[in-house]
Amino acid sequence: MSSEIRNVVIVGSGVMGSGIAQAVAIKGFNVTVVDLNEQLIQKARNYIEKILNRVGRRKFNDDQLKIEEFVRTSMTRVFVTTNLLEAVKDADLVIEAIVENLETKQKMFKSIDSVAKASTIFASNTSSIPISMIAKNSKRLDRFCGLHFFNPVAMMELLEVIRIPETSEATYQLVMAFGKKLGKTCVTCKDTPGFIVNRLLSPFINEALTMLEEDVATKEDIDAAMKLGAGHPMGPFELCDLVGLDVIHNARKFYHDQFPDIPFFAPSTIVDKMVKEGKLGVKSGEGFYNYK
Ligand code: 3HC
Repeated sequence: MSSEIRNVVIVGSGVMGSGIAQAVAIKGFNVTVVDLNEQLIQKARNYIEKILNRVGRRKFNDDQLKIEEFVRTSMTRVFVTTNLLEAVKDADLVIEAIVENLETKQKMFKSIDSVAKASTIFASNTSSIPISMIAKNSKRLDRFCGLHFFNPVAMMELLEVIRIPETSEATYQLVMAFGKKLGKTCVTCKDTPGFIVNRLLSPFINEALTMLEEDVATKEDIDAAMKLGAGHPMGPFELCDLVGLDVIHNARKFYHDQFPDIPFFAPSTIVDKMVKEGKLGVKSGEGFYNYK
């Protein structure tokens, strides 16, 4: 087991993968983002640069020279590639942030198991799939865990660290230290559905969807009510748009298959319809609200 994490590989260049890459790069780690084609990785590179600019503006109070220097230095540590097997050879930590599909995740981890160094830690950023299911066929269960980041990664201070029964104490200590170096507050959770945050957010979002279906109030009023009456930074529909309707759809589908008796995991007519129409939230330009 290496005593330090220096090189991090992020598999998946979507909103979460790119967000994690940015958070990792600014703390001095080398980070390689991997995705399936050239177009996706170049898009990720641009997106990471855009978040860095945003973070830089906040950090350096609009001092343009300092912002440019911050972005340039951070970007020297960001690499993008489509060659997963080559990328993981030097990795101390691999964080998977690909589509919420069990088989796809298992397949990806299987493909890198014998290529990565024996000491490399494997982590999944899944929000809904149990880590032990993803790690099922891995030869390094003691070096497997969940590292669950929150959107937007640059702003959210939490990191959920999920241990499976086999995760070694050394792995756990190393990823906890890594999380702290990123400036995150780490909380530890057993490998249970939704971990802490999504287990509490799922019934909350589900009830908001039910209220909309029952025509109890408009989405605008429900959002306003939860912001002004309960102190939430975003209402449930704004939150759905931020997280992505596709992510919510896939998570509910997975949970429902596993736990068919839990009502708040049952498919939602509204969410299913929006996903079919390509209304995925902020990332597609339209969800419950319009972002174009
Ligand atoms: N990247 C970087 N910085 C961002 C950002 C992003 N995507 N979005 C907002 N910011 C920054 C802005 O630049 C701004 O900085 P400034 O104060 O220096 O100007 C600051 O955040 C505040 O932004 P805004 O004024 O535009 O808006 P808010 O004050 O409403 O803050 C928010 C935005 C931080 C997103 C806040 O609304 C919030 O905390 N919302 C809740 C988010 C949440 O619950 N996330 C968890 C979702 S669940 C999840 O991710 C799990 C997954 O598995 C599904």
